[in-house]
Amino acid sequence: MARVVIIIGSRREGNSYILGNRIKDKLASNRISTDIIIPGNQKIYLCTGCMDCDRNGVCDFNDDMEDNIKKVKDAEYLIFITPTRWNLLSGDIKIFMDRLNPLYSQKGLQNKKMINLIIGSKKKNEYSTEGAKTSLGAFAESSGMKVAYIADFDECLDFKDILKQESKIDQVIDEIIKCVG
Ligand SMILES: Cc1cc2nc3c(=O)[nH]c(=O)nc-3n(C[C@H](O)[C@H](O)[C@H](O)COP(=O)(O)O)c2cc1C
Repeated sequence: MARVVIIIGSRREGNSYILGNRIKDKLASNRISTDIIIPGNQKIYLCTGCMDCDRNGVCDFNDDMEDNIKKVKDAEYLIFITPTRWNLLSGDIKIFMDRLNPLYSQKGLQNKKMINLIIGSKKKNEYSTEGAKTSLGAFAESSGMKVAYIADFDECLDFKDILKQESKIDQVIDEIIKCVG
């Protein structure tokens, strides 16, 4: 059972993927186990809004969210890493969030800690990450989770641009270890 689950909102092995795996490796060397979920590479049906799960906490769909929900249920910390898309979070993360409703309806998200990491391509003063940050915060607020730490990376357009910010990566991972350690 992992105490930390990392949810990566990009399908490509780019900036979010690099950051997520760096965090996983560093936490492993601190004896903290993590699971990584990349919703975009899984079989996850779109929530139809039937609301059956509001009654019994069970989704009628049979897909990868069954296993994801078990992992999220057992975790103390959820680390969301999203690329900015149209100044919002990624669609893959939103689909994942919607399908957490069975857990939410049983109060299963309440008081979990959320760490929000946002990656954008523009410069800070061009609102690179603001909208994504706000939408992750809105999810925390409405699901009853507590945001423990937020960080953002600007000027990451190409796959590996984040590697130009090595010292910031180290600093962010140190802060995450302080939170979860
Ligand atoms: C459809 C789309 C919309 C995007 N919108 C924004 C945006 O509004 N602001 C921004 O700073 N970057 C935007 N980007 C750029 C990505 O956030 C950036 O390339 C990021 O590093 C991608 O993360 P990844 O490497 O993990 O896939 C957009 C990218 C795509 C594909």
